[in-house]
Amino acid sequence: MIENSKLTVIGAGAVGSSVAYAALIRGSARHVALYDIAAEKTEAEVLDLAHGTLFTNSSTITGGSDISVAEGSHVVVITAGAKQKPGQPRIELAGINAKIVADTMKKTLEVAPDAIFVIVSNPCDVLATLALEESGLPRERVFASGTVLDSSRLRWEISRRTNVAPTSVHAQIVGEHGDTEFPLWSEARINTVPILDWRGPDGTPQFSVEELDKIAVDVRDAAYKVIQGKGATNYAIGLSSARIVEAILGDENAVLNVSTVLDDFHGISDVALSVPSLVNASGARAIRETPFEEHELERLRASADALKKVAADLRA
Ligand code: 2OP
Repeated sequence: MIENSKLTVIGAGAVGSSVAYAALIRGSARHVALYDIAAEKTEAEVLDLAHGTLFTNSSTITGGSDISVAEGSHVVVITAGAKQKPGQPRIELAGINAKIVADTMKKTLEVAPDAIFVIVSNPCDVLATLALEESGLPRERVFASGTVLDSSRLRWEISRRTNVAPTSVHAQIVGEHGDTEFPLWSEARINTVPILDWRGPDGTPQFSVEELDKIAVDVRDAAYKVIQGKGATNYAIGLSSARIVEAILGDENAVLNVSTVLDDFHGISDVALSVPSLVNASGARAIRETPFEEHELERLRASADALKKVAADLRA
């Protein structure tokens, strides 16, 4: 556990404020700072969060529109940038958000040179790829929240169908945090029972391949549904980001599906994608020996090629 730990959240919009709120409630860090260029909004969010600290753990909350609020951060979560409009794929935000994230990282590094950076802004995989390159930091210190959130959505979908606690449903979404993401069904289990062997109340297998395919689509499109209804997602991304922060500050060596720039992961390199990764005080590293079936690797390679092209266009 890092003593006197400090998390700075960049961006005081719905997502950033929810990350800060989740971190306070969960006690993810001793100190939480919130930064945004919008001074009045940020000060109001900090005040509103601070007014509740009687009821949260021992965390403090500070913030404002001067980047010095990030001084000495151990972890920086970047949520700044444009958000999806209803029906808009995350990848379409790459052009707008790439520069915002690059500029934000540059100025934050000046006051928090030892921080680990978690990119939440979308498209988080491409933005993490570019941010790592531009920062010159070691690979493990810049990564994206990736499909930690999507894996939570998948585990919830299976949990609500089986009435098994999500913590006992071991299922992962891998690849892009976006439209090409997919479940690693080959490794999906309820406790130790492979998902296709799980039996429903009538004693017969509960899930057909077609049912699993439908669940995968529901998970992939979950954000679109929430954004259509309320204009943004914020609670679940806030909680999943706080969980990632805890794994770093607690030096947990937790396995989470964050999105790191891969280095010969089944032959895939130089692009951030979510696969099971070890997260600790040094940052995040993909677990190279994670088993993928060939058809799953083909999907991962297709995602890698698509995202590499988007990143290349942004570098041009
Ligand atoms: C989400 O999946 C929008 O990427 C965000 O909730």
